[in-house]
Amino acid sequence: MIDSILDQMTLEEQVSLLSGADFWTTVPVERLGVPKIKVTDGPNGARGAGSLVAGVKATCFPVGIALGATWNPELVGQMGAALARQAKSKGAAVLLAPTVNIHRSGLNGRNFECYSEDPMLTAELAVAYIDGVQGEGIAATIKHFAGNESEIERQTMSSDIDERTLREIYLPPFEQAVRRASVMAVMSSYNRLNGTYTSEHYWLLTKVLRQEWGFDGIVMSDWFGSHSTAETINAGLDLEMPGPARDRGEKLVAAVREGKVEAATVKAAARRMLLLLERVGAFEKTPALTERAIDLPEDRALIRRLGAEGAVLLKNDSILPLAKTSLDRIAVIGPNAATARVMGGGSAQIAAHYTVSPLEGIRAALANANSISHAVGCRHNRLIDVFKGKITVEYFKGRGCKGHPLHVETVEKGEFFWFELPSGDLDPAHFSARMTMQFVPEESGDHVFGMTNAGLARLFVDGALTVDGHDGWTRGENYFGTANAEQRGAARLEAGKAYAVTVEYEPSTANGEGINLIAVRFGVEKPLGEADIAAAVETARNADVALLFVGRDGEWDAEGLDLPDMRLPGRQEELIERVAAANANTVVVLQTGGPVEMPWLGKVRAVMQVWYPGQELGNAVADVLFGDVEPGGRLPQTFPKALADNSAITGDAAVYPGKDGHVHYEEGVFVGYRHHDTRAVEPLFPFGFGLGYTRFSWGEPKLSSYEMGPDGVTVSVDVTNIGDRAGSELVQLYISSPKTKVERPDKELRAFAKLSLQPGETGTAVMKIRPRDLAYFDVEGGAFRAEPGNYQLIVAANAADIRFIIDQPSPSAYVLSPSHQATSLIG
Ligand code: BGC
Repeated sequence: MIDSILDQMTLEEQVSLLSGADFWTTVPVERLGVPKIKVTDGPNGARGAGSLVAGVKATCFPVGIALGATWNPELVGQMGAALARQAKSKGAAVLLAPTVNIHRSGLNGRNFECYSEDPMLTAELAVAYIDGVQGEGIAATIKHFAGNESEIERQTMSSDIDERTLREIYLPPFEQAVRRASVMAVMSSYNRLNGTYTSEHYWLLTKVLRQEWGFDGIVMSDWFGSHSTAETINAGLDLEMPGPARDRGEKLVAAVREGKVEAATVKAAARRMLLLLERVGAFEKTPALTERAIDLPEDRALIRRLGAEGAVLLKNDSILPLAKTSLDRIAVIGPNAATARVMGGGSAQIAAHYTVSPLEGIRAALANANSISHAVGCRHNRLIDVFKGKITVEYFKGRGCKGHPLHVETVEKGEFFWFELPSGDLDPAHFSARMTMQFVPEESGDHVFGMTNAGLARLFVDGALTVDGHDGWTRGENYFGTANAEQRGAARLEAGKAYAVTVEYEPSTANGEGINLIAVRFGVEKPLGEADIAAAVETARNADVALLFVGRDGEWDAEGLDLPDMRLPGRQEELIERVAAANANTVVVLQTGGPVEMPWLGKVRAVMQVWYPGQELGNAVADVLFGDVEPGGRLPQTFPKALADNSAITGDAAVYPGKDGHVHYEEGVFVGYRHHDTRAVEPLFPFGFGLGYTRFSWGEPKLSSYEMGPDGVTVSVDVTNIGDRAGSELVQLYISSPKTKVERPDKELRAFAKLSLQPGETGTAVMKIRPRDLAYFDVEGGAFRAEPGNYQLIVAANAADIRFIIDQPSPSAYVLSPSHQATSLIG
C-alpha cells in the first residue's frame, strides 16, 4: 500500500512529509489519504501538545535514573506499556523516549533522564521500555543519537569521541534498541560529533545505524537541531522537527532540481515516513488529536512499586525500617519534605495528575497515630519560588501592552511557556501580555522578586520597576538556554498588606540565531535564614527520629544547563550536620538526579536515595521507610567521594565542560566504574551498590561450558534469602579480559539478574555471555574482536563486592562483523 501511495506522490508531497507541520505534528497529504500524526514527550510521561508547565494533566512516572536504579527490565517494560496508553490519551502515535545517553561527568543537567553509566544496563532497560511502548502500537524514539552527555553549549558543542569509545560505551544502547527491539524512530542529538552535526552525520545515521545495524525506521532531528537542506537528507535524517519547514519544503525541492539531492533519496525518506504511519496504524485509524487526562489506579500502583524498586538504601546503621508503632514523635524536615519533587526539568516535564509529598506520604502511612512535626530548615531552589495565586493575563496585539486586550484569562501560577497563544489572532512574534496579581506577604521583612524570560519582560511592585528583564537582556541558561539568567530585585514588605504585582511581557525583537522561545517565569520569596535552621534543629531535638528530606529539584536537574558541582545546594549540608547533632536518629532521604558528595555521611544513621520517582513519591518513600516494601534499588551510577574523582573531571576544560566548541572524551572507555576500578579510585558508593532489609547467601556459580562457542555460555548462581523478610538481590556478571593490544577496563558488566525472594526461598540467577561480550572494538579491523586467551567471569553483588571469579579458558578468537551477519571463529 505504501508503495502505491508513494508512486502517486509528487516530489513536493514527498518533501512535505519530511518536516513537521507544527511543534508536535507531521504533515498530512489529504489527497492520498495520508494522515498526520502527533508526537509527544517524553520519557516519564506523555505530555501531549500543551505547554510544559500547564498542559492537560498526565501520569507522572519515575525519571530515567530512578528506572536505572531498579535494575528491573520487566517493570520498566510494564511502564513502557502504560506510557503508550498515556500517549494514546494525548492523541499521539509517537513517544519521544527513551533517553539513553550515558552518565559521563555526573554534572550533566539531563543525568536524571538517562539510565546509567553502563551501556549494558542502559541497553537492557531501553529494550524493555521500547518493547513495552511499541507492544501497544506506539512508536518509541530513542534519543539523543549520539554524544549528548552534557548541556553546555548544547546546540553547537562537538563531542569528540574516538570510535572505539563510541562503539563500546555510547552506541550500544542504540544498537540494541535497533537489533532487539526494532525501535521505530531515532532522534539525532543537538551536538556535533567529531565536528559534524549528528543531524548531518552520514557515518552515524546511514553507515552505522542503517547499514550495519539494519535500522529501517525514521530518524528525526531534535527540536531545531537540524541546520541544512542537502546535508541532512543526504546523511539520512528523515524528519526535520519541529515544523513548519525551515531547511526543507521549497528549499529541498530546489535542491533536488539542482541535483544536490537525488529524488530517490527523498523518496526513500518519504517511504520511511509512510512506513512509520503504517506501523502505528495511522492509516486504519487516524488517532484523535484531542487530549484527555487519564489517571488510572493500575498506573498509580505501578509508579508506587517502581518508586520503591528504585530506592537505593546507601547506609543503614540499624535504624531502618522504622517500626510504625514504636515512634511517638517524628520530625519531618527539609526543603523536599512538604514539597513533592517528582520529576526533572525541561522537555521531560509534564503537568502531573497529582503529587504526593514525603510529608503527605508519611502522614498517610501513620494514620495520625503518631505526632508528626515539620520544619523546612532551608531552601535549595535555584530560582525564586514561583508565584502562586490568581493572575489575570491580558493579551494584546503588537508590543507594549497597548489598547484593548484581545484575550483575557486567569491562571494560578507565574510561569508561562507558550507553544500556542490563546487566540489565533495573536502573532507569536508581535504580541504582548500583561499579568496582574496581588501579593500578600505572610511575614514582614525583606523579600526577593525574581524573573527569567525568553523574550523581554519587566516586573513592577506597586508601580515601581523591581525586576528588569528588558533593558540589557542577554541569553542565560534558563528555558533551554533561550532565556536570561534569573534577574532579581529586593523589596521590604509588610505582612498582611496587598501589593500589586504586574509583569509586562513581549517576545524578543532579535530574529537572529538560535531558537527563540516565548516564556516567562516570576516569583517572590522571603529568604530563609538562621532562625529557620534553628527551628528545624529544635524540631529534630524534640523528636524520636528526624527524617531529613534534602536534595535538589527539577530546576537544578534540568535540560539546558549542567550542574555547577556535586554538592547539595543552599545550606543543606549545614542543615544535615546540625540536625544530626541534635538527634542521633537522623535518616537522610536524598533526591537528586545523580551523585552528590556526602561530607556528612558519618554523622547520620541512614541514607536513602529516591531520585525523582513520579507522582507517588511520598507513598513510595513511606513504603520503604516503614518496611512495607524493601528498598529494591541499586546504584546505576558510581557515587564518587568527590567530583574530581570523576574521570571526566580532570581540570582540563577541553575534557569537561569543553573548550572552543569541543568537548574531548579523553577518558575513552574509562567511564564510571571502569575508571574507578582500573585506576584504583575508591568510590563513596560503587556501581550496583544498595542495601536491603534482609540477607542472602550465594551458592557457587555454575558454568554451562568452559569453552566459549558461538552460542555463548551460561552462568547460574543460586541465591537464598536467609533473612526473615522478603527482599531482592542483584547478581552482576562482569568479564575481565586477558591483555590485549588495547587497554581494557579491569572489568565490564555483561549480564545481570535481579531476584525477588521470600524468606527461605532460593532462586537462580541465570546469565548469558556471548562471544561479543568478550570483545573490544578493534578500530583498525572495523569489528568487535575477542582475542584468544583466558577470560575471567566475575560474579559480583556490585562493582566493589566480588563474590566469585571463574577463569574461563577461551582458546579461540572471535571476530564479529559490525553488521553481526557473520560470526567467524578464528584461532
Ligand atoms: C529535547 C528533546 C525533546 C524535544 C521536544 C528538546 O529540547 O532535547 O529530548 O524531545 O525538545 O520537546
